[in-house]
Order: sequence, then structure tokens, then C-alpha cells
Amino acid sequence: MLVNSKEMLLNAKKLHYAVPHFNINNLEWTKYILEEMDKLEKPVILGVSEGAAKYMGGWNVVAKMVQALIEDLNISIDVCLHVDHGSSFETCKKAIDAGFTSVMIDASKHSLEENIAITKEVVEYAHQRGVTVEAEIGHIGGSEDGITGSNFNARLDECEYLVKETNIDSLAPALGSVHGLYKGEPNLDFETMKQINDALEIPLVLHGGTGIPASQIEKAIECGISKININTELQIAWHDGVKQYIKENINTYDPRKVIASGEKNIKETINLKVQEFKTK
Ligand code: 13P
Repeated sequence: MLVNSKEMLLNAKKLHYAVPHFNINNLEWTKYILEEMDKLEKPVILGVSEGAAKYMGGWNVVAKMVQALIEDLNISIDVCLHVDHGSSFETCKKAIDAGFTSVMIDASKHSLEENIAITKEVVEYAHQRGVTVEAEIGHIGGSEDGITGSNFNARLDECEYLVKETNIDSLAPALGSVHGLYKGEPNLDFETMKQINDALEIPLVLHGGTGIPASQIEKAIECGISKININTELQIAWHDGVKQYIKENINTYDPRKVIASGEKNIKETINLKVQEFKTK
């Protein structure tokens, strides 16, 4: 069933596990994630960046595709369809109108007051329609969808202020994680993560899940992280499978076979993440 992220993330916070957010890129990707998570009987958040929505044809295409897959594949787990890093009120509105059940408004590149004003506008529109809202504070570095940003960490007082002013449902405080591959070991500020979690009632989100070792994932969950975003890791797993397949089947041109040669790796990675995240 398509749901917003409210209950799934509050349950995760209460019971100390994380719900996986996997970014989707196309029909096959979405199908593999839904099939595997349904088999595992765990909730899932499907993240869609603006770039991925554009690639697939638009927010309506994605929303209708996900709804149709849930129906035709008889998916019975809770599925949240979520905008990843929505950059404006207009983007979030379009996705909500198309049927998305959750949005991230990422106004973190603006000043705190502007971030609050934009986030507030999104919350007002979203909550009236039963849609949950995630916001970002500080700035998560690295590169995603060709958008590169520098890293600066969130501060506890600013997190408290933003949450109080906006009434968001979950918060992604930048605490050293980056999108894409890490240069060396990730350096997460667990102390501030715990302080923010203790001070707030809403669940916390960890972006840049690719490349964070299992021991640090465990620590992040102990410090209150309830949702972990994974994008690059699935892409690399898929690409490894496809590379191998093409090497061994150089004359196969059926796109269904080529694309599906990454399926096994995607599904294995999903299993690994669900174990690491202790998803219930
Ligand atoms: P990775 O690509 O590093 O897994 O990050 C994903 C993410 O945070 C999406 O918002």
C-alpha cells in the first residue's frame, strides 16, 4: 500500500532500526526493489530525485508507474513514494499533485530563515494532503545527479529552531555524510547526531548511505537515525552485473536481458542493507 512516511519512521525511531530509502531510476529498478522488499516483508521508501523524475518522463509517470506496480505485482508492504532533494515549493507541489506521499524540501543552500520560509510553505501544502515532509539543515556534500555541493554540518540550536518553526515530519541534519563515494573513511559527527535526536521528537535521516561501514551504520542507528538513503551503492551493484553480462554475451542486444543482468546484484544489495539497518 502507498503510505506517507509518518508511521514507518516513528516506528523505526521507537524500535531503533532504520527504514531503507532506495533511489529509483526506471521501471526495472522500481520492480526489483518492490519485489525484494515485499519478499522480506519490510517497509520501503522509494526516493525520486528531480533528475530521475525528468529522466522517467515526469512526476506523473513515476507516481502512476509505482501505483501500477504495487497493484499488478500484489505488493502488500507499506511503500512510501518520496521526492529526494526537492529544490523548490513548485517541485514539491507538482510531485504531491501527481500522487507522491512524501517530499523532501531541500532549501539548505539558502539562509536558515529562507530555508524555514520555503519549508513552511511546503509543509502547509503537504500536510493538508496527508503528505509528509523531510527537510535538510547544514549541507550534505558530495555529488548526486550531477549536483555537487560542499559539506557543512548542522547545529543543534538551528535544528531545534527549524523544527519548531516548520512542523516537519523528519529532519536530515548534515553531519559529515556525503553523496556518492567517500574519499577515505566517512567522518560522521555521532555526538551531535545523538544530541539532535535526544532534543527532537521527529525521526532523523542519514543521507549518503553508500560507503558507510556497517559499524558506523549501527552507531548511527543507536544515535537515532531512522531512515538511511542509498543511491550510488545500488547503481554500482547493477553496473557490476551488467558489465560482466556484456563481457560474456557481447552479441545479446535484447534490452530486457541486458538491464535484467543487474537484477541479482540489486536484490543482494537490498538484502544486505535491510540486515545492516535492522529494518523491522
Ligand atoms: P548515496 O548515493 O551516497 O547512497 O546517497 C544517496 C542519498 O543520500 C540520496 O538522497
